[in-house]
Amino acid sequence: MTSINSSTLTNTENEFSNLANPIDTVIKILGEPFCRGEKYAIYNSDCITGMNKLPADLVNLTITSPPYNIGKEYETPLPLNQYLNWCGDWIREIHRVTCLDGAFWLNVGYVPVDNIAKAMPLTYLLWDKVPFFLIQELVWNYGAGVATKHSLSPRNEKFLWYVKNKDQYTFNLDEIRDPDVKYPNQKKNGKLRCNTIGKNPSDVWQIAKVTSGANRSSSERTPHPAQFPMDLIDRLVKGFSNPSDLLLDPFMGSGTTAESAIRHNRYVIGFELRNDYCLQIKERLSFVENELTSRLF
Ligand SMILES: C[S@@+](CC[C@H](N)C(=O)[O-])C[C@H]1O[C@@H](n2cnc3c(N)ncnc32)[C@H](O)[C@@H]1O
Repeated sequence: MTSINSSTLTNTENEFSNLANPIDTVIKILGEPFCRGEKYAIYNSDCITGMNKLPADLVNLTITSPPYNIGKEYETPLPLNQYLNWCGDWIREIHRVTCLDGAFWLNVGYVPVDNIAKAMPLTYLLWDKVPFFLIQELVWNYGAGVATKHSLSPRNEKFLWYVKNKDQYTFNLDEIRDPDVKYPNQKKNGKLRCNTIGKNPSDVWQIAKVTSGANRSSSERTPHPAQFPMDLIDRLVKGFSNPSDLLLDPFMGSGTTAESAIRHNRYVIGFELRNDYCLQIKERLSFVENELTSRLF
């Protein structure tokens, strides 16, 4: 497989390409965000409206998890076709704003479909709505979850790895190798068989969900009901983008993508419709920024 560092291609030459900090670029176009820092800008707005105003070929990597249309506190379920068309709308915008060697990691789960499926993988329903090239499906497997009586207890969600150009994309394998190798000293013809920094982490990642509840709440838990685990997003940020890249999460939720991006020296922009979540993101990111600044002194 071709793995090429994104520095081999430049972002499109648009009128903003001379600005050093991409956050300044974005603020120049979209105006003052709900909250900002040196490396981030978060807008309390609809993501399609926001992305519409951005120039093409700006973003290196998008990581996101949309509402799944299953009645969570932050969504009003739509008829399925309407929901899928809406997904097509924001996915096309992500494609447009992604730079030529950029990528898109999409996390999706399952939806019921009347008389057809109890839990249809959203990946099956969205396949023709995505103008990107699909490299691979990653299975995120977790231990805890609801226990069902009439079917197997669900313990996975999918992450789809899309790229704009199938021959030019970032894949920093050494950044995400799994050090848990069974026979690290095994040799063939006098040479170590395994890479000394670890093995390829494979397309199944076992990472605990962010849990809530008395005595079992994860330490990273925020009030948001659908928070990504940091370990998972850290792997995506390190493996599929480079320092100083611009990341995007159009459905920011609790701000996990933004926290990971800032901690790994990337820039990040995002949209979140709900004001209460934006307030939580603001607090979370200013805490992270203060922590990182205090480490410098
Ligand atoms: C699945 S959650 C994202 C959770 C996030 N991955 C995290 O780690 O916290 C989806 C989020 O999208 C937000 N949302 C829904 N429709 C939106 C829209 N049109 N534009 C921006 N945000 C939206 C919801 O309020 C919700 O917080």
